[in-house]
Amino acid sequence: MEHLPQQYRHLFPTLQTHTMLASCSQSALAEPVSRAIQDYHDSLLYKGTNWKEAIEKTKFARNEFAKLIGAEPDEVAIVPSVSDALVSVASSLTAFGKKHVVYTDMDFPAVPHVWQAHSDYTVSVIPSIDGVLPLEQYETHISDETVLTCVPHVHYRDGYVQDIKAIAEISQRKGSLLFVDAYQSAGHIPIDVKEWGEEMLAAGTRKYLLGIPGVAFLYVRKELADALKPKASAWFGRENGFEGAYAKDARRFQTGTPAFISVYAAAAALSLLNHIGVSHTRDHVKTICADAVQYAAEKGLQLAAAQGGGQPGMVAIRDERASETAALLKKKKVICAPRDNVIRLAPHFYNTKEDMRRAIDEIAAKTIHK
Ligand SMILES: Cc1ncc(COP(=O)(O)O)c(C=O)c1O
Repeated sequence: MEHLPQQYRHLFPTLQTHTMLASCSQSALAEPVSRAIQDYHDSLLYKGTNWKEAIEKTKFARNEFAKLIGAEPDEVAIVPSVSDALVSVASSLTAFGKKHVVYTDMDFPAVPHVWQAHSDYTVSVIPSIDGVLPLEQYETHISDETVLTCVPHVHYRDGYVQDIKAIAEISQRKGSLLFVDAYQSAGHIPIDVKEWGEEMLAAGTRKYLLGIPGVAFLYVRKELADALKPKASAWFGRENGFEGAYAKDARRFQTGTPAFISVYAAAAALSLLNHIGVSHTRDHVKTICADAVQYAAEKGLQLAAAQGGGQPGMVAIRDERASETAALLKKKKVICAPRDNVIRLAPHFYNTKEDMRRAIDEIAAKTIHK
């Protein structure tokens, strides 16, 4: 799989000067994505109007995301962020007459934040056990009163990968909908919503999807989308923007004008990812992470990864002063992503084993970790 970086590194100018390992936060910008951003900018600067093109680009981005996750394009809504996706979902659940929601202690804080604001719902938080979420925990906490279960596909802190198909089987058996936060997986782990069976899934574009902030996608399974009436919905959620009827598909979860500049970036980025194929990216990332795990152990570094789940696509190294270390690494042009007491090395298809080893050498050289 070493051929992936050889083939594609030249598209990423930052890689000539920096070791970029922060895809769990912001991936490197590819030239085609940069050109797409420029195109949007130039169309305003030199042509004055670009609404029609922007709407076409929005459709294209939707199609590409649908392709990436095995959905139909009309099952995808374009929203500003993953948080907004969940806000729209939360605004659509009254029809079920159930007021119990479940999420996990591995969800990104935006998930609890949304539910904390919904004081009319009762909430159960599934606790992880020694860094993993055994399926029995879902059996215990989801009940026939549960309207929605929210889970992360991948834990943002250490890369722990959950078996969404198995969780979907449990939640469906108990009569709950399943919302999957795939922000830490989309773009480097293959997703197949039809095979797995979750009802909803969201991902933003600035991490492994190679885009910039401003756009996220929400998948809602077709039959379900048509039955729900989200309150967080406005003219981009209508069949015809100026009339009142909900769009006849997942677009009803949309509100206002999307951040077109981010849509242009997402369209180019998704097109590149679909061209490469996420399964190839996954194989490559797994290979270089496996090498890095071994190398980090040889260097005496402590890993934060839990024993269990699918193979993580990041290497999380324990460090009580993670932010300080990341700042030191940045001075050496090694870009990684600290979070709490771990430094996350999150490679993509453009990274090499040597990139990971270089970061590990730098981390190991910092006496503050010893
Ligand atoms: C797993 C996960 N979910 C959600 C979010 C928040 O996404 P947004 O800012 O698009 O709401 C993040 C951001 O880092 C994340 O890592």
